[in-house]
Amino acid sequence: MTDSDSPPYHQDNPTDGHYGRRRVLGTAAGVVGCAGLCAASWPFLDSLNGPHSAKGRQTTFEPLDIDLSNLAPGSHRQLTWGNLPVAVTHRTKEQIKALTQPTLLAQLRDPTSRSRQQPADCRNPWRSLVPDYGVYVGICTHLGCVTRFRNLENDPPAGGFFCGCHGSWFDGAGRVLKNVPAAYNLPVPPATLLAPTMLRLGRSAADPAFTMASIERM
Ligand code: FES
Repeated sequence: MTDSDSPPYHQDNPTDGHYGRRRVLGTAAGVVGCAGLCAASWPFLDSLNGPHSAKGRQTTFEPLDIDLSNLAPGSHRQLTWGNLPVAVTHRTKEQIKALTQPTLLAQLRDPTSRSRQQPADCRNPWRSLVPDYGVYVGICTHLGCVTRFRNLENDPPAGGFFCGCHGSWFDGAGRVLKNVPAAYNLPVPPATLLAPTMLRLGRSAADPAFTMASIERM
């Protein structure tokens, strides 16, 4: 699936002068719509409870190999790993460069990934093993709704993820913006590159102690 395959969704832009006002309106609308959206996300939220772990969420997953060879630059793919939605992105050179721009970093709550939301080998400006490919769990770190990826250069500046439940934004590396309900960056699953275009989810070769149970907020 590419971004062009994705259905349309909210298009607020935090760099736009009207963004703040629209976000307030969007938040109000989000409250009204929350009953339906939260109900829609409940099966997923409920799946995180129960016998999976002491913390109440699934933490063990079968390894999953992802072939990146047919993912064109500038496109992304949505897949499911266990009960988790996962987004895989192939960045353009411009998108990689945008992730280090000071104007973007100033908008982020945790630009250097201090919170342990990723393995050590992904604690870098791209929050990924290599700059070209990003892999993020698409679960909002506010209350667990599913986020949606948008591939626009300027919305926010490096493209990114949006949660429609209460209006949280994450940049193209899954880093949460300031002044939104979510407080943590999107989780990055442990992974290893088996080849330049073959990725295996499940274990970080450089940080084997990091598992899905290590993630602070999901
Ligand atoms: S669940 Fe509240 S902003 Fe995403």
